[in-house]
Amino acid sequence: MRVGFVVSLCLWVCTRSARAANSQESQTNYRISMVSSPENPTNPAIFVHAESPVWDPEQQSLLFVDVSKQNVHRLDYTTGKIYTKHIGYGKVNMVSLVSGTRRLLVAVRSALYLLDLEVAGDSAIRLITTVDRGLPDNVINEGKPDAIGRIWAGTKGPQTGDDVVPDKAAFYSLEQEGIIYPRVQLKPVSISNGLTWSLNNTVMYYIDSPTQKIEAFDFDLQKGELSARRTILDISNYGYEDAIPDGMTIDSRGHLWVALMFGGAVLHINPDSRQLLYGYKLPVSRVTSVCWGGPNLDELFVTTSRDNVDAKLEPLGGAIFTIRDTGSRGVAPNTFRFDNADYY
Ligand SMILES: *[C@@H]1O[C@H](CO)[C@@H](O)[C@H](O)[C@H]1NC(C)=O
Repeated sequence: MRVGFVVSLCLWVCTRSARAANSQESQTNYRISMVSSPENPTNPAIFVHAESPVWDPEQQSLLFVDVSKQNVHRLDYTTGKIYTKHIGYGKVNMVSLVSGTRRLLVAVRSALYLLDLEVAGDSAIRLITTVDRGLPDNVINEGKPDAIGRIWAGTKGPQTGDDVVPDKAAFYSLEQEGIIYPRVQLKPVSISNGLTWSLNNTVMYYIDSPTQKIEAFDFDLQKGELSARRTILDISNYGYEDAIPDGMTIDSRGHLWVALMFGGAVLHINPDSRQLLYGYKLPVSRVTSVCWGGPNLDELFVTTSRDNVDAKLEPLGGAIFTIRDTGSRGVAPNTFRFDNADYY
């Protein structure tokens, strides 16, 4: 059995052939469904603010967080069961795989921890380091490991409702050389968000959400350095003036897939030609992030949020969608290198 295949609504049939403004392709054969609730498989599983989806190939599971509920979740693809680990130390915005261990890397407020899902109580999480010291209202918003296992993670400034104070945050890289020291890579940023690398690891794609841009840097993998910042695509030029780009992933052709918060869509972009190829519409406005998963890495998992939304207006806000038959597939995720993680 596979997950997320149960619920289907006319809504998707009605929206799926829609074309985004100025997009280059028409796409009609894909299918959108939702991850179903393990308790009641005819209903979708609903979270408050699902984020940071990452596919775990070894466990054939989707890992993700519920930022507001301070939970880390694991969706077992084969059984459809959803496991929950409550952290309870503040907002949990990020989860990532760690090499050679089942322990996970998680961000809680402005700190990075190793998390052991099997351990109960406070010792389930073990502090690695903190960033943005002296800025107690900043939180780590998004992060990912690069191809040699360095973690790149960025913060956002103090937030009230949907508003975030601009230019208060930073983007860091961290790698294990004895003790882990955060290295400032970009400062200031406002809401450090989606990031991924070109398949040949010479380009980093990056999103600071309020800019409304998907940007690129030349990337030096060995040195861990960024240079030559430029814009790949500005979403406000494509009819998404009120949206901001959020999470991002890459596919096996080197194309980008970008979640649009407040935009109710996922964009498929060719970064080399700087073209929007297609905009996949979803029946919710707050689309937070994307990752490829499933046994063939050809299902796009899309996390969404119901934070600050009237549930009557958006009953599916907070669901996790899967988009299948897009004609694209992903690549396996990088893992964070942290030696002896099991004994830390
Ligand atoms: C690496 O990938 C980027 C992004 O697709 C591309 O622009 C660049 O030409 C590639 N570099 C080489 C040496 O192939």
